[in-house]
Amino acid sequence: TLHPVILAGGSGTRMWPLSREAHPKQFLPLMGEHSLFQDTVLRLDGLEEVAAPLILCNEEHRFLVAEHMRQLEKNALAITLEPVGRNTAPALTLAAMMLLDNESTFSDGDPVMLVLPSDHVVRDIETFQKLVRHGIELAQGNTIITFGILPDSPRTGYGYIRMGNRITSDGGSNFFQVAEFVEKPDRDAAKKMIKSEAYLWNSGMFMMRASVWMRELRRLRPDIVDACSNAHAALSRDGEFYRPGATEFAACPSESIDYAVMEHMSEGSPQGNGAKCIVLPMEIGWTDLGAWSSLWEEREQDAGGNVIQGDVYAHSMSNSLIISQRRLVAAVGLEDIILIETADAVLAAHRDRVQDVKELVEQLKSQG
Ligand code: GDD
Ligand code: MG
Repeated sequence: TLHPVILAGGSGTRMWPLSREAHPKQFLPLMGEHSLFQDTVLRLDGLEEVAAPLILCNEEHRFLVAEHMRQLEKNALAITLEPVGRNTAPALTLAAMMLLDNESTFSDGDPVMLVLPSDHVVRDIETFQKLVRHGIELAQGNTIITFGILPDSPRTGYGYIRMGNRITSDGGSNFFQVAEFVEKPDRDAAKKMIKSEAYLWNSGMFMMRASVWMRELRRLRPDIVDACSNAHAALSRDGEFYRPGATEFAACPSESIDYAVMEHMSEGSPQGNGAKCIVLPMEIGWTDLGAWSSLWEEREQDAGGNVIQGDVYAHSMSNSLIISQRRLVAAVGLEDIILIETADAVLAAHRDRVQDVKELVEQLKSQG
């Protein structure tokens, strides 16, 4: 049985002011009827032999997750609540420990995990599922599967995977050995990688056996394993909610899956000799809804290239996104602008500067 592990503990600051600490972007219906988190759960519908998802999120968002699952009339295998955010490596480690725990009933041994971020749009669900089915076969051994996206620009917020030897499967589809994994490069490095045409973006989805993740992490980051095992030893249950030991988990270093493990999967890395790592290229209409500009790109635009939601009166506007929640917003002559109106805050930004919203929000926070 395949075990989906859904990571839903991010803060989504670049989507402020709609995305808030109390209500981060994965719980917003940014693309339509369902929240991004719900879309992640629904994307699994139709896959055979899939367990209910193990969801990891922040303690603060437990009722959001429970309510969003209830709306879908679906159950979680468990909703694991992190007392503080320690990024994705500790979250995945808790998930693997829960699945491997003989005394629990979460799984029957050492299942393949399908690790899913909850901030993506996937247009072609059929192809996504086809690749997941393919991945299950490949993940049976000591192998980590990554899913690669054909890149179109030198984004610095993504991981980059250099394709190594080509492997052709029985079914005739192609995948590659991972020759190099570079997480969040600087602008120049990203440009070079795009130009070389040898790299794919890392989609952030992974597949591997729970024991494979644990073995790699123990090799590369024993400190994270130790902290998580203490936290897991103190796991307590409250209905569908599970809480790791709070002080134990807080003592864990904060690190992402990509930095903790994936970057060391490069061929010839001094940390090598671990699991085999392969990349399945996927063309599934994938987008990481990281910042407002990606929402503008993803949503249907009018003839002037505008995306408008709510009570908005706009004139002579082009290539802009305006969302109004509470008030009438009137605009004239705007070009390449992002304008987000909410009850207590308004964001106005140039479309090219939306990455800076994160710093902006951090400054606002530090000023109280
Ligand atoms: N449970 C939990 N706990 N989930 C978390 C935490 C945490 O502390 N931090 C982040 N997440 C969730 C986010 O909500 C998101 O769904 C997912 O984990 C990935 O985290 P991001 O913070 O969005 O990562 P990223 O977008 O910067 O980078 C990752 O994704 C890119 C593609 O979208 C990396 O894997 C990159 O290599 C990749 O290109
Ligand atoms: Mg992301």
